[in-house]
Order: sequence, then structure tokens, then C-alpha cells
Amino acid sequence: PYIKELFGLSELEKQICDKFGLKQVVIVPGDSDGSELVKKELGRAGASVFRKLAAANDIIAVAGGSTMAEVANGLNVSSQWKGNVFVPARGGLGERVELQANTIASIMATKTGCSYRLLHVPDHLGEEAYHTLMQDPNIQEIIDVIRRARIVLHGIGDAMTMAKRRKTEASGLELLKKDGALAEAFGYYFDEQGRVVHNIPTVGLRIEDIMRTEVVIGIAGGKSKGKAIAAVLRFGHEDVLVTDQAAAEIIVES
Ligand code: F6P
Repeated sequence: PYIKELFGLSELEKQICDKFGLKQVVIVPGDSDGSELVKKELGRAGASVFRKLAAANDIIAVAGGSTMAEVANGLNVSSQWKGNVFVPARGGLGERVELQANTIASIMATKTGCSYRLLHVPDHLGEEAYHTLMQDPNIQEIIDVIRRARIVLHGIGDAMTMAKRRKTEASGLELLKKDGALAEAFGYYFDEQGRVVHNIPTVGLRIEDIMRTEVVIGIAGGKSKGKAIAAVLRFGHEDVLVTDQAAAEIIVES
């Protein structure tokens, strides 16, 4: 708390909370764009916020990405996690194995002494493959579990950065640009107003599931993500934001 007062971060937290109608905002000092240390701190803060909001016997759906990997690092075994199940929020989004939601869910479960369920679906699902998968009873069963998640933990990215990280073809990049895609979260691309403009075809949580999830926690920082984070906040279904000072200074002006 002392450090927050010193940097004026408590005031900034309150401003962002009010501006976007959030329940809680936590800001760590610095800019995670240029500092691994700040990114670790962001992950630790995310883990601590999440720990306070989790109960026993919860289903927790988690997204992938390097920030979520740091959140996983910040978790520890405790009796409070009793009976919790970690699941990936959605199927393959074109990430490297270390950054996939399946990997993060299994690490979080191991660190907390909980169980996990995985969703094995390939990236870039075609229409036909999608329908076939959806008829598979095993996939259907895990999707039912995912859709009952009480808590969603997710990262946020800049749309173009994420599309390139996923090796989206040039024509796809053009389409995203044309539609004003600015942000990406849980496989959905958003424009500046927080409207969904594209969606990666996969299975798991749909946007309507996110809308009615009891606790949605976004964890993302770095100056380069400021505008993207503001766009996802405009979408209007986040409850808690954990970010850093550099992003927060942009979010409050967006
Ligand atoms: O691909 C999973 C994901 O959570 C995206 O939805 C998000 O944009 C991205 O990862 C964030 O990744 P990072 O924390 O590495 O910036």
C-alpha cells in the first residue's frame, strides 16, 4: 500500500474502476513491456487477486499466454483450493505449447494441488471438423465442464501482435485491420469500442459464456497493450483488472 501511495497508483486504480465499472483494479508499478521483473510482479499480483476470489470446489477456466504463465508461477499449495478443477478456456488458438491454455491449466493445478481437465482440439478448425468434434461425447463432456466455470482468468493482447504470433496469413491480417481489430482476448478480436469483430474457430467458452461468468479476471500489462486493454474493458464483461502502471496510464486516458 505504501508504494502505491508513493506512485499515486491507488488513485489510478480508483479512476479505472469507476470509468469502466469494474469491481476491482490492481496496478503494479512499472512497465512490463521492457522488464521481466515487472511482468513477474504482475503475475504475482494476478495470483494474489485470484487466490482471494477463489472458493472451494470451483471450476476455473484459464487462457494461455506469457502473462498467464507468470500467474501460474505465483500460485502455491493451500487448503483453500480444495476440490478445485482447472480447465482451459478454449481449444487451440495457435500458441506454442508452453503458452497454451492446456499447459497453463495443468501447471496451475499442479502448483495448487488441484485437478485439471484438458481439451485436445487442433488449431485452425474447419467447419466440418468443428461439427464432428462437437459430436464426440468426450469433447462434449469437457466442454460442459468448461461452460460451468465460475471464474475465468485470461490475458489480453494487441490484435496485430497476437495475429502475427499465431501466424495468421496476410489476407487474415488485412481483414482484421479493415475491421478495426485492436485487441484480442480468449480467441476473440475486439475493435476500439469493445465490439467483437472476429473469432478464432475453436471449441470451449463462447462469448455468451464469458458474459454470464460470475468472476472474469483480466491480467495484462505493458504500455503497448494499453489501448487493447481499454477496448476489452469497453466490451463490458470484466470484473477485475490486474495491470501495470504503464498500461494503466493509457487505459485511464482511452
Ligand atoms: O492466446 C492466449 C492469450 O491469452 C490471448 O487471448 C491473449 O491475447 C494472449 O494470450 C496474451 O499473451 P501474453 O500474456 O503473452 O501477452
